[in-house]
Amino acid sequence: MTTVRLRRNGPYVIESDEVTVVDWNGVEYPVDRRPVALCRCGASAKKPFCDGTHSRTAFQADETAEGRAKADISRE
Ligand code: FES
Repeated sequence: MTTVRLRRNGPYVIESDEVTVVDWNGVEYPVDRRPVALCRCGASAKKPFCDGTHSRTAFQADETAEGRAKADISRE
């Protein structure tokens, strides 16, 4: 099983040893760290990977699955 964990005010962390990251041409990025952390703040100099820059910016992303579930239910 693969888990994608959203870090509070940080990256998407993919918890699996079987992850490959490819660009839109299907070319694979070398992965030098596990677990893989993908930038979601947009500020990384190593995109698509997180380089820790989010901690020096005002990036805010503290949504939760519970909150999303409530929002989705209210739209139905
Ligand atoms: S989420 Fe870490 S640099 Fe963007």
